[in-house]
Amino acid sequence: MGNECEVGREKKQDTCLQSTVLSTLFFYQINTTRAGKMTTPLPSTDGVRVAVRVRPFSQREKNSGSKCVISMHSGTTTTIQDPKNPEHRKTFTFDLAYWSHDGFQKDQDGVFISADPSSQFASQTDVFHDLGRGVLDSAWQGYNTTLLAYGQTGSGKSYSMVGFGANKGIIPKVCEELFQAIEKREGNEEYQVTFSMLEIYNEQIRDLLSRTKKPGGLKVREDQQLGFYVDGLKSVPCENYAQIERLMEQGTKVRTTASTNMNASSSRSHMVITIQFKQVFLDRRLTKQSSINLVNLAGSERQKSSGSEGDRLREGSRVNLSLTNLGNVISALADTAMGKRVLHVPYRDSVLTKLLQPALGGNSRTALIAAISPADLCYEETLSTLRYAERAKKIQNKAVVNTSMLMRESKAENSKALLAHRNSRTAEWPHCLLAEQGPRPQTGQPTWARRLQQAREEWQQPYLAIAQERQMTETFPHLLNVNEDPQLTGVLKFFIQTGSCDAGRAPSNAILLQGLGISDKHASFTNLDGTVMVTPHGKCKVVVNGVPIMTKTKLQHLDRLILGSNSAYLYIGFPSERGSEDLSRFDYDFFQLERAAAEGVSVDKLGAAGRGDGNADASVLAVFQDFVKLMPLVAEANQMGEELEKELRMELKVKNLASSDSRGYELQKEVTVKVTHQRTHEVWIWSKAKFINRKFLMEELYQRFLEGEDSHVAQEDDPFWDPVEAVHLGSAHVWLQPLAYCMKLEEQVEFLNCDGMEEAMLHVHVTPCSPGGQAHGDEDVVMDPLELLGKRMDFQIGLVRCLGIKWLKEGAERGIQMGYRIYDLSSTFYTKPVWKTVNPQIEETVQFTALNASQEFLNYLQTNALIVELWGLQEGCAQLNSSQPDVMVTSEGHIMVDTKKISTMMDTSQTTSNQIPELYMKLLKLEQETELLRNVNRALREENVLLKRSLEKAASAEPDALKVPPTPAQLPAAGDSPHVSAQRPGSDRELAMALKVFYQSMNAARGQFLRLRHYKPPDDDGLLRPFVHQQSQRLKDFGELLESSLWRLKSDVARIVREKRAGLLHPG
Ligand SMILES: Nc1ncnc2c1ncn2[C@@H]1O[C@H](COP(=O)(O)OP(=O)(O)OP(=O)(O)O)[C@@H](O)[C@H]1O
Ligand SMILES: [Mg+2]
Repeated sequence: MGNECEVGREKKQDTCLQSTVLSTLFFYQINTTRAGKMTTPLPSTDGVRVAVRVRPFSQREKNSGSKCVISMHSGTTTTIQDPKNPEHRKTFTFDLAYWSHDGFQKDQDGVFISADPSSQFASQTDVFHDLGRGVLDSAWQGYNTTLLAYGQTGSGKSYSMVGFGANKGIIPKVCEELFQAIEKREGNEEYQVTFSMLEIYNEQIRDLLSRTKKPGGLKVREDQQLGFYVDGLKSVPCENYAQIERLMEQGTKVRTTASTNMNASSSRSHMVITIQFKQVFLDRRLTKQSSINLVNLAGSERQKSSGSEGDRLREGSRVNLSLTNLGNVISALADTAMGKRVLHVPYRDSVLTKLLQPALGGNSRTALIAAISPADLCYEETLSTLRYAERAKKIQNKAVVNTSMLMRESKAENSKALLAHRNSRTAEWPHCLLAEQGPRPQTGQPTWARRLQQAREEWQQPYLAIAQERQMTETFPHLLNVNEDPQLTGVLKFFIQTGSCDAGRAPSNAILLQGLGISDKHASFTNLDGTVMVTPHGKCKVVVNGVPIMTKTKLQHLDRLILGSNSAYLYIGFPSERGSEDLSRFDYDFFQLERAAAEGVSVDKLGAAGRGDGNADASVLAVFQDFVKLMPLVAEANQMGEELEKELRMELKVKNLASSDSRGYELQKEVTVKVTHQRTHEVWIWSKAKFINRKFLMEELYQRFLEGEDSHVAQEDDPFWDPVEAVHLGSAHVWLQPLAYCMKLEEQVEFLNCDGMEEAMLHVHVTPCSPGGQAHGDEDVVMDPLELLGKRMDFQIGLVRCLGIKWLKEGAERGIQMGYRIYDLSSTFYTKPVWKTVNPQIEETVQFTALNASQEFLNYLQTNALIVELWGLQEGCAQLNSSQPDVMVTSEGHIMVDTKKISTMMDTSQTTSNQIPELYMKLLKLEQETELLRNVNRALREENVLLKRSLEKAASAEPDALKVPPTPAQLPAAGDSPHVSAQRPGSDRELAMALKVFYQSMNAARGQFLRLRHYKPPDDDGLLRPFVHQQSQRLKDFGELLESSLWRLKSDVARIVREKRAGLLHPG
């Protein structure tokens, strides 16, 4: 085989050039002399070739308004941009960069092709021309060759490797071209092709070409010469491409059934297809053998260590073991290539790496295709994929041409087989002859000819079954499976024949369904008089078009059914009902979104943010996507828990991070899972990552249970169990503005939970005081926070009591603790635990000191709130302790704040001020009102400054008439003279007092405003009217409060100004 690129390509010139480069780089000269004699193979180092491919946006990404963060140039570089920090870009250079994101169109056969000649779009054919042809070239030359597809779930690995519909991927094309080339060959050479297909899931190997599953899976064994191999793996001799197609279909079916039955997601399994290709040169009595490995790796994101960060059982799952270990092997080999000393490459630590040993650092020419998503939301994952690929690129392999002498006996067998073939006159007889198969030739092993014969006999049955299924599809209504992996969708068909039939787990059912939450007799279907009906048995879960059904329901063509926890099927009606619909739109996402909508989950419900343009904020959409994605998983987890008698209830919650944002902005939301023990009422809150990690472990446990193994685990290894811990109940905002004016603040504020509902009330005070702890009086109030700049500020935070704690109303034995953080202190201060009291008296006061109040600290006080968190304690849980390793204290023992570098604070304050608050849509108007309030506030402050200036002017004109208040620079430190302001003129003090009253009213207004923002409509529509009423009442209250405080300030200031004028006019 020559360089195919130049011969058969109808491709743009640049890509052709690319391919030529690749071919020269990828495949080096065969070690054959001109005379055709084989020399001793000379290993030479051969780098792993790496290609990146970026796919189009998925529907989900389009719906959420995703932005593309990937760009590619000159066919080799890939640049990724950090969506949070667009200036931050990273460029990677690989052997190939395939742009499949846009610039394409569908031709009449449904194949995606370039939209115009200037488009840089890379089609399936382009990818095949480089990578697939590379594989074939190597195989023909007698090298082992491996192609790996790596990338996160849904990034396009299967698309590139297997393909969809008319857009065939590398694997089918490689097989097709291999046979095409074989058929063209003439001469005294024979060819043997065998095909095997396996899946590695949870460290178990399943033979996808075998209908029976070996308990515990197939084993990997090691041969002294040949290395690792899978013992007992079916390797089917193939004579043509059609057979390979059938085998792949069969393998996919086994994979789909396994995925549905075991509730195992296919994206967590690795699929390895191996084609053994042997060329027999009869006249030279030589063979050349190549092992072609085509590997579709599991979705990579699961291995991210941060995915299960903080989970006690993060190391427990074996689902990720192979992929994690693959990463370790690649890293070790990359280090070796970089000249680092590596003591051990951990090939033996997982099944996959054992099988891939030759591919990584061994006797194979290897290429890796890194599939990436273009979307901003996948930035982290994509970056990690590109880094992974970068490491893989460093690996050096040592490939040799695999040749061996043809054994005399084998030759005799070959001749016999050839003779038999000539006699049979079979039209399609391939040039495949005998050679030793498997790790070691064994005596008594069937010859190649016999194996072929056997395979041909075995073909008859599947051929018949396929023909029968095709005919039934044309005749009967049926259910078509819909899998999360589009590759496995539409693979299983369940026919609803005339009459009635039962569906369920029990083998006696006509429709044998398996899967989580499917009962022995789950439902029955009737097909009578041209109507198909479904009836659930007892309480079995059947959902039709998103809605759970209890009684007999008529099915219509293209209805969506979910049986049990999450087995999804599309109903295909009678042939007369069918049209030329595009079934691909009813994908897994469609089912989940429909179900979510029926359950009342919507973007609006989750707190759609009004950006003012009617579109929900991207972060809310992301939370919505997460929510919809997790809904079926939570249902599955609950079902497994129920069957394993764990007595747990899991439910999804959306945590509003505004509750922990000190500016009260609804910056982000995240999905959490609340776990409640139904008997003990213990509660846990799991992060999304922790839940996903636990779900893997639950699946492993559940599978053991299904397989009849002992599913008992020690408590500390139980994914359903955790030690009880303190639960975050809610947060309260205490606005610190009065402190910036040296005013005391005493308030009752609400603790709001993640649903924005009141969890409890807090009585709190924040008191400016002297270093000795003596509270400042009204006379210490400053008119401008700038007066405090550079001064010592002391203040006490006192948590007085909590009222009406719901957590305790629900469980009298429980307790609470409160915690807060202030300004730049990294530690949280917790109150002592109090148990069994609904209205506990806390009375804990801590004094803080800013020795040299900075501008940033004063800004912080004016714009931020102190977040007080309420934590629920339950029996047996550890209390929360204030860890204060880096806390500095004054000589009086007070805790110092405002000690950090000013520059860092500048940055933070800038970013926060740039962030746009996302608001609950119905209360959007209120945000504008707040803005108004802020403007009024700002204007008033400016007015104050003007007033002050005019007073100063007046004072300088009449030096004795009025004492000028000292400028900030002249003011002595508060600590030196706590009563310095007492010397101020009375009217000045009055102005300050008026401001104090104003700011206190402002606080109340803010509190109420925050409450409104978190106030959500109830689930029940019937309650909407009282809700709207209540809401407008609150709005009215808010408006009145705002009005009255503004009016009060205005009149106070006006009065003071009047009095001052009068004083100036009539001194004395
Ligand atoms: N280059 C592409 N052009 C068009 N569509 C693509 C492309 N790559 C991927 N897709 C589409 O994106 C979706 C996800 O792709 P695919 O199933 O190949 O991902 P995957 O990486 O195999 O995911 P998993 O790890 O879950 O198996 C599919 O619907 C597929 O059709
Ligand atoms: Mg896939």
